[in-house]
Amino acid sequence: MNPTIQPSTTPLHPAATQPATALRDFYHLGALPTQTVQLLVQRAAELRAGAAPHQFPGRALGLLFLNPSLRTSASFQRAAARLQLELVQLSGDGVWGLETATGTVMDGAAAEHVREAAAVLGRYVDVLAVRAFPAGKSLNDDLRDPLMNAFRNHAGVPLINMESARWHPCQALADWSTLEQHQIPTRGRLVLSWAWHPKALPHAVPNSTLCMAAQRGMDVTVLHPPGYALHPSVMAEAAQLAQASGGRVSSSEDRERALAGTEVVYAKSWGSLDCWGDAAAESAQRAHLRDWCVQPDWLQGSARFMHCLPLRRNVVAADAVLDGPASLLLDQAENRLHAQTALLEEILS
Ligand code: CP
Repeated sequence: MNPTIQPSTTPLHPAATQPATALRDFYHLGALPTQTVQLLVQRAAELRAGAAPHQFPGRALGLLFLNPSLRTSASFQRAAARLQLELVQLSGDGVWGLETATGTVMDGAAAEHVREAAAVLGRYVDVLAVRAFPAGKSLNDDLRDPLMNAFRNHAGVPLINMESARWHPCQALADWSTLEQHQIPTRGRLVLSWAWHPKALPHAVPNSTLCMAAQRGMDVTVLHPPGYALHPSVMAEAAQLAQASGGRVSSSEDRERALAGTEVVYAKSWGSLDCWGDAAAESAQRAHLRDWCVQPDWLQGSARFMHCLPLRRNVVAADAVLDGPASLLLDQAENRLHAQTALLEEILS
């Protein structure tokens, strides 16, 4: 099976085909004009080559992590230092539990409504960056991305999505930079492959990887075992981005056919839409799928290996892949710093 995904007939993000405009909301890369993304990638390359970052003394960046992080946290801290930004840093275990529902009687666990939390932080900083993973209980709730959208609506300052229920645009921007750095052709092939993992993981990275590659103009195949398709709305949006860029989007359950001739294998695990919120059903469904661990023979010719990290060795990919010449992992992680420095420059300028 290798169906080509048809784009939805309703334009979801017509911005992708428009000229670059001022950047005030970095929620989803595919919602930005492609020209804006290309300018950010170009600036990230200049910064990687040693260009001096702009300086913003007296201005402040807020970082709110409601979930763990290594790369996103460290790279934003370093980017802020390079731009002479003051930092306000908060983590999930240090803030009040947040309510997102409108009109609710707050007599449960949450002590603060996101409306106040977002607006208060917006009084302290010039740009606010938030990480808020999906709750993982109700698929419909998570598809609405309630926490991130509440911060976008109520912060009153530009908001950067540092990974939400639906998207990880900072990772996608860095990955686009890495593809350029390694001269992966714009019309090249990228296979986004599902990988086994002991837990059901969120969809933000695969969603953003798919849309990023489609927006760049690549021929993207989502390779997965039965039961692990990405959400139809994301596939339709990616197809629409591909239509605008001259790329192509398809899906496949045939590993051998999908991997033949591809330039990039981007591995990631994600949970089944059929088992959302049901850990026992998810475990049973994936129990026989442990061979979805990237091996050296998945990478044919000069194919490169990508993953956003963190990654479980010999679960998602074999040591020989991670430690071999095909791996772009560390460049991907380094490009988080350059891409986010470019992003902050653009938002604050
Ligand atoms: N790739 C990524 O976002 O890494 P962290 O979760 O460690 O920030």
